[in-house]
Amino acid sequence: MPAELACFDERCGARFPVTDVLYNCPRCGGLIETVYGQRDASGWKQLWRERRMSNLPIDQSGVWRYREFLPFLDDYRHVVTLREGNTPLLEGPGAAAYGGLDRLVFKHQGFNPTGSFKDNGMTCGAAQARRLGMQRVACVSTGNTSASMAAYASAGGLQPVIFLPHGNISFGKLAQALEYGARTLQVEANFDQNLALVRVVAGQLGIYLLNSINPFRIEGQKTIMVEMMDQRDWRVPDWVVLPGGNLGNASAFGKALREMRDLGLIDRLPRLAVVQAAGAAPFYELMRSADRSRLRRVEHPETLATAIKIGDPVSWPKALHEIEATGGVVESVTEQEIADAKAVIGRCGIGCEPASAATLAGIRKLTGSGVISGDSDVVAILTGNVLKDPDYIHRYHTGILQGIAGERLISNLGNPPALVQCNTSAIISLLQV
Ligand code: F0G
Repeated sequence: MPAELACFDERCGARFPVTDVLYNCPRCGGLIETVYGQRDASGWKQLWRERRMSNLPIDQSGVWRYREFLPFLDDYRHVVTLREGNTPLLEGPGAAAYGGLDRLVFKHQGFNPTGSFKDNGMTCGAAQARRLGMQRVACVSTGNTSASMAAYASAGGLQPVIFLPHGNISFGKLAQALEYGARTLQVEANFDQNLALVRVVAGQLGIYLLNSINPFRIEGQKTIMVEMMDQRDWRVPDWVVLPGGNLGNASAFGKALREMRDLGLIDRLPRLAVVQAAGAAPFYELMRSADRSRLRRVEHPETLATAIKIGDPVSWPKALHEIEATGGVVESVTEQEIADAKAVIGRCGIGCEPASAATLAGIRKLTGSGVISGDSDVVAILTGNVLKDPDYIHRYHTGILQGIAGERLISNLGNPPALVQCNTSAIISLLQV
Protein backbone atom coordinates (compact mmCIF):
# COMPACT_ATOMS: atom_id res chain seq x y z
CA MET A 1 0.00 0.00 0.00
CA PRO A 2 1.37 3.43 -0.85
CA ALA A 3 1.01 6.32 1.59
CA GLU A 4 -2.54 7.38 2.42
CA LEU A 5 -4.19 9.93 4.62
CA ALA A 6 -6.35 8.55 7.41
CA CYS A 7 -8.70 9.93 10.03
CA PHE A 8 -6.94 9.71 13.38
CA ASP A 9 -10.23 8.98 15.16
CA GLU A 10 -10.34 5.17 15.16
CA ARG A 11 -14.13 5.13 15.39
CA CYS A 12 -14.12 6.70 11.90
CA GLY A 13 -10.87 5.51 10.30
CA ALA A 14 -11.74 6.97 6.89
CA ARG A 15 -8.96 6.79 4.30
CA PHE A 16 -8.10 9.32 1.58
CA PRO A 17 -5.54 9.66 -1.22
CA VAL A 18 -2.25 11.18 -0.09
CA THR A 19 -2.73 13.99 -2.61
CA ASP A 20 -5.98 15.25 -1.06
CA VAL A 21 -5.71 18.62 0.65
CA LEU A 22 -6.97 17.71 4.12
CA TYR A 23 -6.38 19.00 7.61
CA ASN A 24 -9.49 17.49 9.22
CA CYS A 25 -11.56 14.48 8.28
CA PRO A 26 -14.40 15.50 5.92
CA ARG A 27 -16.59 12.79 7.48
CA CYS A 28 -16.17 13.31 11.22
CA GLY A 29 -13.93 16.35 11.71
CA GLY A 30 -11.16 14.28 13.33
CA LEU A 31 -7.46 14.99 12.86
CA ILE A 32 -5.68 13.61 9.80
CA GLU A 33 -2.52 11.51 9.79
CA THR A 34 -0.33 9.91 7.13
CA VAL A 35 -0.30 6.10 7.14
CA TYR A 36 1.75 3.53 5.26
CA GLY A 37 1.39 -0.14 4.43
CA GLN A 38 3.68 -2.98 5.48
CA ARG A 39 7.33 -1.99 5.40
CA ASP A 40 10.48 -4.01 5.92
CA ALA A 41 12.95 -1.99 7.98
CA SER A 42 15.85 -4.44 7.89
CA GLY A 43 18.89 -2.65 6.53
CA TRP A 44 17.56 0.84 7.27
CA LYS A 45 19.88 1.54 10.20
CA GLN A 46 22.96 0.78 8.13
CA LEU A 47 21.64 2.63 5.08
CA TRP A 48 20.95 5.72 7.20
CA ARG A 49 24.47 5.60 8.65
CA GLU A 50 26.03 5.29 5.23
CA ARG A 51 24.14 8.29 3.95
CA ARG A 52 26.03 10.47 6.43
CA MET A 53 29.02 10.06 4.11
CA SER A 54 27.08 11.29 1.08
CA ASN A 55 27.27 14.76 -0.43
CA LEU A 56 23.80 14.55 -1.96
CA PRO A 57 21.57 17.32 -0.52
CA ILE A 58 18.80 14.85 0.19
CA ASP A 59 21.18 12.61 2.16
CA GLN A 60 22.71 15.54 4.02
CA SER A 61 19.28 16.52 5.29
CA GLY A 62 18.65 15.15 8.78
CA VAL A 63 15.05 14.59 7.68
CA TRP A 64 15.30 13.09 4.19
CA ARG A 65 18.21 10.87 5.19
CA TYR A 66 15.50 8.86 6.93
CA ARG A 67 13.11 8.98 3.97
CA GLU A 68 12.13 5.29 4.19
CA PHE A 69 10.49 6.21 7.49
CA LEU A 70 8.23 8.84 5.86
CA PRO A 71 7.65 7.60 2.32
CA PHE A 72 4.83 9.89 1.28
CA LEU A 73 6.51 11.54 -1.74
CA ASP A 74 6.47 9.97 -5.19
CA ASP A 75 9.23 12.19 -6.55
CA TYR A 76 12.10 13.55 -4.48
CA ARG A 77 12.63 16.42 -6.90
CA HIS A 78 9.91 18.21 -4.91
CA VAL A 79 12.15 18.33 -1.84
CA VAL A 80 13.29 21.72 -0.54
CA THR A 81 16.15 21.25 1.87
CA LEU A 82 18.25 23.71 3.86
CA ARG A 83 20.05 20.73 5.50
CA GLU A 84 17.58 20.71 8.39
CA GLY A 85 17.89 18.32 11.29
CA ASN A 86 21.46 17.18 12.02
CA THR A 87 21.02 18.62 15.49
CA PRO A 88 23.38 17.55 18.27
CA LEU A 89 22.94 15.72 21.54
CA LEU A 90 24.65 17.89 24.16
CA GLU A 91 25.56 16.96 27.74
CA GLY A 92 24.56 19.52 30.34
CA PRO A 93 26.08 18.53 33.69
CA GLY A 94 25.03 21.78 35.40
CA ALA A 95 21.50 21.36 34.08
CA ALA A 96 21.44 17.74 35.21
CA ALA A 97 22.32 18.76 38.76
CA TYR A 98 19.70 21.52 38.68
CA GLY A 99 17.12 19.05 37.37
CA GLY A 100 17.88 16.45 40.05
CA LEU A 101 19.44 14.00 37.59
CA ASP A 102 22.79 12.23 37.46
CA ARG A 103 22.98 12.99 33.77
CA LEU A 104 21.01 15.00 31.26
CA VAL A 105 21.34 15.22 27.50
CA PHE A 106 19.73 17.91 25.38
CA LYS A 107 18.76 17.38 21.78
CA HIS A 108 19.07 20.92 20.54
CA GLN A 109 16.69 21.65 17.70
CA GLY A 110 17.80 25.27 17.83
CA PHE A 111 20.76 24.21 15.65
CA ASN A 112 18.36 23.98 12.69
CA PRO A 113 18.73 26.39 9.73
CA THR A 114 16.06 28.78 10.99
CA GLY A 115 16.78 28.02 14.63
CA SER A 116 13.91 25.76 15.63
CA PHE A 117 12.47 22.24 15.28
CA LYS A 118 9.91 23.58 12.84
CA ASP A 119 12.42 23.08 10.02
CA ASN A 120 12.16 19.30 10.42
CA GLY A 121 8.48 19.49 9.58
CA MET A 122 8.58 22.37 7.17
CA THR A 123 10.86 20.67 4.66
CA CYS A 124 8.14 18.02 4.32
CA GLY A 125 5.24 20.47 4.22
CA ALA A 126 7.00 22.51 1.53
CA ALA A 127 7.74 19.37 -0.51
CA GLN A 128 4.09 18.33 -0.39
CA ALA A 129 2.99 21.86 -1.37
CA ARG A 130 5.23 21.68 -4.44
CA ARG A 131 4.03 18.21 -5.30
CA LEU A 132 0.44 19.47 -5.21
CA GLY A 133 1.33 22.39 -7.48
CA MET A 134 0.48 24.98 -4.84
CA GLN A 135 1.66 28.56 -5.30
CA ARG A 136 1.04 30.01 -1.90
CA VAL A 137 1.44 28.62 1.59
CA ALA A 138 0.16 30.09 4.84
CA CYS A 139 0.41 29.62 8.57
CA VAL A 140 -0.43 31.31 11.82
CA SER A 141 2.41 31.29 14.23
CA THR A 142 3.83 32.27 17.57
CA GLY A 143 6.95 32.99 15.52
CA ASN A 144 8.99 29.90 14.77
CA THR A 145 6.60 28.26 12.32
CA SER A 146 6.43 31.50 10.36
CA ALA A 147 10.21 31.93 10.30
CA SER A 148 10.61 28.37 9.09
CA MET A 149 7.79 28.48 6.57
CA ALA A 150 9.04 31.76 5.15
CA ALA A 151 12.49 30.27 4.57
CA TYR A 152 11.35 26.98 3.03
CA ALA A 153 8.68 28.60 0.89
CA SER A 154 11.08 31.17 -0.49
CA ALA A 155 13.77 28.55 -1.05
CA GLY A 156 11.24 26.41 -2.90
CA GLY A 157 9.65 29.09 -5.07
CA LEU A 158 6.41 29.30 -3.10
CA GLN A 159 4.90 32.51 -1.73
CA PRO A 160 4.69 32.57 2.08
CA VAL A 161 1.79 34.33 3.80
CA ILE A 162 1.93 34.49 7.57
CA PHE A 163 -0.52 35.52 10.26
CA LEU A 164 0.98 36.65 13.55
CA PRO A 165 -0.71 37.55 16.83
CA HIS A 166 0.15 41.26 16.99
CA GLY A 167 2.60 42.18 19.75
CA ASN A 168 3.03 38.62 20.91
CA ILE A 169 5.99 37.29 19.04
CA SER A 170 9.63 37.88 19.69
CA PHE A 171 11.49 40.31 17.50
CA GLY A 172 14.01 37.73 16.34
CA LYS A 173 11.28 35.58 14.84
CA LEU A 174 9.43 38.47 13.21
CA ALA A 175 12.72 39.66 11.76
CA GLN A 176 13.31 36.26 10.17
CA ALA A 177 9.90 36.24 8.51
CA LEU A 178 10.51 39.67 7.00
CA GLU A 179 14.02 38.82 5.87
CA TYR A 180 12.93 35.56 4.24
CA GLY A 181 10.34 37.48 2.25
CA ALA A 182 7.02 36.46 3.77
CA ARG A 183 3.91 38.52 3.29
CA THR A 184 3.33 39.23 6.96
CA LEU A 185 0.00 40.10 8.55
CA GLN A 186 0.03 41.12 12.18
CA VAL A 187 -3.51 40.48 13.35
CA GLU A 188 -5.03 41.92 16.51
CA ALA A 189 -5.97 38.48 17.78
CA ASN A 190 -4.32 35.68 19.73
CA PHE A 191 -2.87 32.51 18.20
CA ASP A 192 -6.07 30.48 18.50
CA GLN A 193 -8.23 33.18 16.89
CA ASN A 194 -5.63 33.58 14.17
CA LEU A 195 -5.70 29.87 13.41
CA ALA A 196 -9.46 29.97 12.93
CA LEU A 197 -9.01 32.94 10.59
CA VAL A 198 -6.24 31.46 8.51
CA ARG A 199 -8.17 28.26 7.96
CA VAL A 200 -11.08 30.14 6.41
CA VAL A 201 -8.87 32.45 4.34
CA ALA A 202 -6.62 29.61 3.11
CA GLY A 203 -9.67 27.55 2.16
CA GLN A 204 -11.25 30.35 0.17
CA LEU A 205 -8.08 31.45 -1.62
CA GLY A 206 -6.71 27.96 -2.28
CA ILE A 207 -3.62 28.58 -0.15
CA TYR A 208 -1.92 25.50 1.32
CA LEU A 209 -1.90 25.52 5.12
CA LEU A 210 1.35 24.64 6.85
CA ASN A 211 0.43 24.68 10.51
CA SER A 212 1.03 21.46 12.41
CA ILE A 213 -2.50 20.25 11.60
CA ASN A 214 -0.88 19.58 8.23
CA PRO A 215 -0.06 15.85 8.48
CA PHE A 216 3.16 16.17 6.47
CA ARG A 217 4.65 18.58 9.01
CA ILE A 218 4.17 15.84 11.58
CA GLU A 219 5.92 13.30 9.33
CA GLY A 220 8.99 15.52 9.20
CA GLN A 221 9.03 16.14 12.93
CA LYS A 222 9.06 12.37 13.49
CA THR A 223 12.68 12.38 12.35
CA ILE A 224 13.71 14.25 15.51
CA MET A 225 13.11 10.99 17.36
CA VAL A 226 14.70 8.84 14.65
CA GLU A 227 17.84 10.97 14.54
CA MET A 228 18.00 10.92 18.34
CA MET A 229 17.87 7.11 18.34
CA ASP A 230 20.42 6.89 15.54
CA GLN A 231 22.77 9.18 17.51
CA ARG A 232 22.30 7.00 20.61
CA ASP A 233 23.08 3.83 18.64
CA TRP A 234 19.43 2.87 19.17
CA ARG A 235 19.61 2.77 22.99
CA VAL A 236 16.14 3.83 24.13
CA PRO A 237 16.12 6.53 26.84
CA ASP A 238 13.75 6.28 29.80
CA TRP A 239 12.23 9.71 29.19
CA VAL A 240 11.93 12.25 26.41
CA VAL A 241 10.90 15.65 27.75
CA LEU A 242 9.53 18.43 25.53
CA PRO A 243 7.56 21.66 25.81
CA GLY A 244 3.91 21.62 24.71
CA GLY A 245 2.07 24.38 22.85
CA ASN A 246 -0.09 23.37 19.93
CA LEU A 247 1.03 19.76 20.63
CA GLY A 248 2.22 18.94 17.14
CA ASN A 249 5.61 17.86 18.38
CA ALA A 250 4.23 15.58 21.08
CA SER A 251 2.03 13.99 18.41
CA ALA A 252 4.97 13.56 16.04
CA PHE A 253 7.25 12.08 18.69
CA GLY A 254 4.67 9.54 19.82
CA LYS A 255 3.90 8.49 16.25
CA ALA A 256 7.62 8.13 15.50
CA LEU A 257 8.27 6.05 18.59
CA ARG A 258 5.34 3.71 17.97
CA GLU A 259 6.30 3.27 14.33
CA MET A 260 9.94 2.59 15.23
CA ARG A 261 8.80 -0.05 17.71
CA ASP A 262 6.38 -1.62 15.24
CA LEU A 263 9.12 -1.75 12.59
CA GLY A 264 11.51 -3.41 15.04
CA LEU A 265 13.94 -0.46 15.10
CA ILE A 266 13.56 -0.12 18.87
CA ASP A 267 12.37 -2.67 21.40
CA ARG A 268 10.46 -0.43 23.81
CA LEU A 269 9.03 3.08 24.08
CA PRO A 270 10.52 5.86 26.17
CA ARG A 271 8.00 7.78 28.26
CA LEU A 272 7.05 11.23 26.98
CA ALA A 273 6.85 14.15 29.41
CA VAL A 274 5.19 17.28 28.01
CA VAL A 275 5.71 20.52 29.90
CA GLN A 276 3.41 23.53 29.57
CA ALA A 277 3.63 27.06 30.94
CA ALA A 278 1.18 27.44 33.84
CA GLY A 279 -0.63 30.35 32.16
CA ALA A 280 -1.23 28.34 28.98
CA ALA A 281 -1.72 24.79 30.23
CA PRO A 282 -4.99 23.35 28.88
CA PHE A 283 -3.36 19.99 28.14
CA TYR A 284 -2.02 19.74 31.68
CA GLU A 285 -5.55 20.41 32.97
CA LEU A 286 -7.01 17.84 30.58
CA MET A 287 -4.70 15.17 31.97
CA ARG A 288 -5.86 15.97 35.47
CA SER A 289 -9.54 15.85 34.52
CA ALA A 290 -11.61 12.81 35.38
CA ASP A 291 -12.36 11.41 31.93
CA ARG A 292 -9.91 13.28 29.65
CA SER A 293 -12.60 13.44 26.98
CA ARG A 294 -12.73 17.16 26.29
CA LEU A 295 -10.06 19.82 26.37
CA ARG A 296 -11.22 23.06 27.96
CA ARG A 297 -9.51 25.85 26.13
CA VAL A 298 -7.79 28.64 28.03
CA GLU A 299 -9.50 31.79 26.74
CA HIS A 300 -6.62 34.16 27.48
CA PRO A 301 -3.38 32.20 27.54
CA GLU A 302 -0.49 34.05 29.16
CA THR A 303 3.21 33.31 29.27
CA LEU A 304 6.44 35.10 28.48
CA ALA A 305 7.42 31.93 26.63
CA THR A 306 5.44 33.27 23.67
CA ALA A 307 6.23 30.23 21.51
CA ILE A 308 3.86 28.17 23.67
CA LYS A 309 1.27 30.86 24.39
CA ILE A 310 -1.59 28.75 23.06
CA GLY A 311 -4.92 28.15 24.78
CA ASP A 312 -6.65 25.79 22.37
CA PRO A 313 -4.11 23.27 21.02
CA VAL A 314 -5.52 21.61 17.93
CA SER A 315 -3.52 18.40 18.13
CA TRP A 316 -4.60 17.47 21.65
CA PRO A 317 -6.38 14.20 20.70
CA LYS A 318 -3.18 12.92 19.07
CA ALA A 319 -0.99 14.14 21.92
CA LEU A 320 -3.29 12.53 24.49
CA HIS A 321 -3.05 9.24 22.63
CA GLU A 322 0.75 9.44 22.62
CA ILE A 323 1.01 10.30 26.30
CA GLU A 324 -1.18 7.33 27.13
CA ALA A 325 0.64 5.00 24.70
CA THR A 326 4.02 5.81 26.24
CA GLY A 327 2.93 5.95 29.89
CA GLY A 328 3.81 9.61 29.76
CA VAL A 329 3.00 12.61 31.93
CA VAL A 330 2.18 16.30 31.54
CA GLU A 331 3.60 18.93 33.89
CA SER A 332 3.17 22.68 34.20
CA VAL A 333 5.74 25.24 35.31
CA THR A 334 5.67 28.88 36.39
CA GLU A 335 7.29 31.87 34.71
CA GLN A 336 9.92 32.04 37.44
CA GLU A 337 10.75 28.36 37.00
CA ILE A 338 11.12 28.80 33.23
CA ALA A 339 13.29 31.89 33.61
CA ASP A 340 15.72 30.28 36.05
CA ALA A 341 15.91 26.99 34.14
CA LYS A 342 16.69 28.95 31.01
CA ALA A 343 19.59 30.72 32.69
CA VAL A 344 20.91 27.34 33.92
CA ILE A 345 20.87 26.00 30.35
CA GLY A 346 22.67 29.14 29.28
CA ARG A 347 25.38 28.62 31.90
CA CYS A 348 26.02 25.18 30.43
CA GLY A 349 27.13 27.04 27.30
CA ILE A 350 24.11 25.67 25.50
CA GLY A 351 21.33 28.26 25.68
CA CYS A 352 17.80 28.14 24.32
CA GLU A 353 14.67 30.23 23.97
CA PRO A 354 12.17 30.49 26.86
CA ALA A 355 9.71 27.79 25.74
CA SER A 356 12.53 25.27 25.45
CA ALA A 357 13.58 25.88 29.05
CA ALA A 358 10.20 24.61 30.24
CA THR A 359 11.78 21.16 29.77
CA LEU A 360 14.40 21.63 32.48
CA ALA A 361 11.94 23.39 34.78
CA GLY A 362 9.59 20.42 34.30
CA ILE A 363 12.33 17.88 34.92
CA ARG A 364 13.20 19.58 38.19
CA LYS A 365 9.57 19.29 39.30
CA LEU A 366 9.19 15.72 38.09
CA THR A 367 12.33 14.52 39.89
CA GLY A 368 11.20 16.48 42.95
CA SER A 369 7.90 14.62 43.00
CA GLY A 370 9.58 11.27 42.30
CA VAL A 371 7.92 10.74 38.90
CA ILE A 372 11.35 10.75 37.22
CA SER A 373 14.05 9.08 39.28
CA GLY A 374 17.47 10.71 39.54
CA ASP A 375 19.29 7.90 37.76
CA SER A 376 16.96 7.92 34.73
CA ASP A 377 18.26 8.25 31.22
CA VAL A 378 16.61 11.51 30.08
CA VAL A 379 16.72 13.44 26.81
CA ALA A 380 15.26 16.95 26.88
CA ILE A 381 14.33 18.58 23.59
CA LEU A 382 15.43 22.20 23.27
CA THR A 383 13.08 23.45 20.61
CA GLY A 384 14.51 26.88 19.78
CA ASN A 385 17.76 28.83 19.56
CA VAL A 386 18.97 31.19 22.30
CA LEU A 387 18.96 34.15 19.87
CA LYS A 388 15.25 33.86 19.12
CA ASP A 389 14.32 36.09 22.05
CA PRO A 390 17.23 38.32 23.15
CA ASP A 391 14.93 40.85 24.77
CA TYR A 392 13.81 38.29 27.37
CA ILE A 393 17.45 37.44 28.14
CA HIS A 394 18.46 41.05 28.58
CA ARG A 395 15.53 41.70 30.88
CA TYR A 396 16.24 38.66 33.01
CA HIS A 397 19.91 39.40 33.49
CA THR A 398 19.35 43.07 34.21
CA GLY A 399 16.59 42.32 36.72
CA ILE A 400 13.67 43.94 34.89
CA LEU A 401 11.81 40.88 33.62
CA GLN A 402 8.15 41.04 34.56
CA GLY A 403 5.83 38.06 34.83
CA ILE A 404 2.42 37.82 33.25
CA ALA A 405 0.65 39.81 35.97
CA GLY A 406 3.29 42.54 35.88
CA GLU A 407 5.12 41.12 38.92
CA ARG A 408 8.89 41.40 38.92
CA LEU A 409 10.59 38.04 38.40
CA ILE A 410 13.65 37.35 40.52
CA SER A 411 16.87 37.13 38.55
CA ASN A 412 18.26 34.25 40.59
CA LEU A 413 21.01 33.68 38.06
CA GLY A 414 21.20 37.26 36.81
CA ASN A 415 24.40 38.27 35.02
CA PRO A 416 24.10 41.98 34.27
CA PRO A 417 26.74 43.79 32.24
CA ALA A 418 28.88 46.23 34.21
CA LEU A 419 29.07 49.84 33.08
CA VAL A 420 32.61 51.13 33.45
CA GLN A 421 34.46 54.30 32.60
CA CYS A 422 37.08 54.39 29.87
CA ASN A 423 39.84 54.14 32.42
CA THR A 424 42.38 51.32 32.84
CA SER A 425 42.71 51.49 36.60
CA ALA A 426 38.92 51.47 37.06
CA ILE A 427 38.67 48.38 34.85
CA ILE A 428 41.59 46.65 36.58
CA SER A 429 40.21 47.27 40.04
CA LEU A 430 36.83 45.93 38.85
CA LEU A 431 38.38 42.74 37.46
CA GLN A 432 40.61 42.14 40.48
CA VAL A 433 37.66 41.00 42.58
N1 F0G B 1 8.96 25.36 21.49
C1 F0G B 1 9.06 26.30 20.54
C2 F0G B 1 10.33 27.07 20.47
C3 F0G B 1 7.98 26.54 19.66
O1 F0G B 1 8.10 27.48 18.73
C4 F0G B 1 6.79 25.82 19.81
C5 F0G B 1 5.65 26.04 18.94
C6 F0G B 1 6.75 24.83 20.80
C7 F0G B 1 7.83 24.64 21.62
C8 F0G B 1 5.54 23.99 21.00
O2 F0G B 1 5.46 23.01 20.04
O3 F0G B 1 3.18 23.50 19.18
O4 F0G B 1 4.35 21.36 18.65
O5 F0G B 1 3.51 21.80 20.96
N2 F0G B 1 5.55 27.03 18.15
C9 F0G B 1 4.48 27.19 17.17
C10 F0G B 1 4.78 28.32 16.23
C11 F0G B 1 3.13 27.13 17.68
O6 F0G B 1 3.83 28.93 15.70
O7 F0G B 1 5.93 28.60 15.97
P1 F0G B 1 4.03 22.36 19.68
